[in-house]
Amino acid sequence: MNVDVLLGLQWGDEGKGKIVDVLTPKYDIISRFQGGPNAGHTLEFNNVKHILHTIPSGIFRENKINIIGNGVVIDPIIFKQEIDKLHDVGIDISKNLYISKKAHLILPTHRLLDAASEEKKGKTKIGSTLKGIGPTYKDKIGRDGLRVGDLIHNFDVKYNSRIDNHKVMLTEFFKYNYEETLNACEKDWFEGINVLKSFKIVDTEHMINEALIAGKSILAEGAQGTLLDIDFGSYPFVTSSNTICAGACTGLGIAPQKIGNVFGIFKAYCTRVGMGPFPTELNDDTGTKLRDAGNEYGSTTGRPRRCGWLDLVALKYSVMLDGVTELIMMKGDVLDDFDTIKICVGYEIDGEVVEHFPFELTDDVKPVYVELPGWKTDLTQIKDQNEFPEELNNYISFIEDEMNIPISIASVGPNRAQTIFLEKE
Ligand code: GDP
Ligand code: IMO
Ligand code: MG
Repeated sequence: MNVDVLLGLQWGDEGKGKIVDVLTPKYDIISRFQGGPNAGHTLEFNNVKHILHTIPSGIFRENKINIIGNGVVIDPIIFKQEIDKLHDVGIDISKNLYISKKAHLILPTHRLLDAASEEKKGKTKIGSTLKGIGPTYKDKIGRDGLRVGDLIHNFDVKYNSRIDNHKVMLTEFFKYNYEETLNACEKDWFEGINVLKSFKIVDTEHMINEALIAGKSILAEGAQGTLLDIDFGSYPFVTSSNTICAGACTGLGIAPQKIGNVFGIFKAYCTRVGMGPFPTELNDDTGTKLRDAGNEYGSTTGRPRRCGWLDLVALKYSVMLDGVTELIMMKGDVLDDFDTIKICVGYEIDGEVVEHFPFELTDDVKPVYVELPGWKTDLTQIKDQNEFPEELNNYISFIEDEMNIPISIASVGPNRAQTIFLEKE
């Protein structure tokens, strides 16, 4: 058996949580492979909305194993909040959730370092979610991290030594006043640790590879999006992990030849939260219309998302990096009320049109658009592909022809049921 991978092709928030939940019945195991509580994955069914940050989006389906892989960074405070919320809606995941011993812990001081670093950067800040992601991965790569497996042995000594180092950085380098906040959150942090310890903490790389040999099917759930990848995204305005498909190998401990289908998710337009370049961004009424229609406010931070037209230059780049085998188009319904819809097919840079994603996206990059007719139809009520308006079929075909990959699912609303599987002739 292989591991199928589902990941975002844009700047995050493409709708990964919804589709993982929709696809989960086809799999035995769902596992997150990178990122942490900077992610906010939304699922909607039975008129209730759930937002997950660390826990895989397969958790609402019965009898499925969910795994938090070694590539993920965990904040025990947020983890406990997620568990409590699930408990409130009657979901007990203690039997079905496994956590890698090698996943790294976000310490209370990592969050403070994130805030201090952003404050120091001022106008050049990344616009981080302030969840401590950058500092935690920095310590991981710098070989100073603390892992979930460390909880079992001599933890206090290791914890105190890391916290002491961080305090020196906060005081001497950042001149950051941390005492009050740190004291307030350390108690919650240790409560979270107690909850974390009550779960199954295992060598998930063995578990996953043994499951493959036993014929189990696995879906790997990405967080963030390809354009936020630490190596290939719009650096430095990126997150601190490999969000691309290769991240599933390192973040779960699976060999590259074990990767099966790669589901690449994109919105029928584009959004971005935080700072950084965004060639097709619309700072006008059309951008506001997209934000309102798509309810584009961050699931984790509540920040308004920047909105713009679909960018095929960026999408092709992502498809190349991820080896996408099937595309999934989200939020087509958000475009229901547009007379015409633009799609970016090239970038004009210094008077020349290029179709590859450049080293640096500056303000000089001008999108080259084609304009397609809108469908002016309420897609949210559609139950079958046969009911698609002709203009929507054209929009889908245009993207498929440009990308040379089929779109296998079109999502037409936030609800689980508003998902249309597309048949090809
Ligand atoms: P993720 O981070 O990729 O899981 O995406 P988010 O959950 O952060 O953001 C996607 C948002 O769009 C959520 O509020 C979803 O409920 C919503 N959503 C997902 N699919 C659709 C869709 O097809 N149409 C509409 N209108 N909303 C959708
Ligand atoms: P999901 O999984 C959208 C963005 C932040 C910021 C940059 C760095 O829900 O799609 P970080 O906190 O990682 O140091 O922030 O990355 N970012 C996301 N944007 N969706 C996400 O996750 C994101 N996770 C991080 O806004 O620009
Ligand atoms: Mg999100």
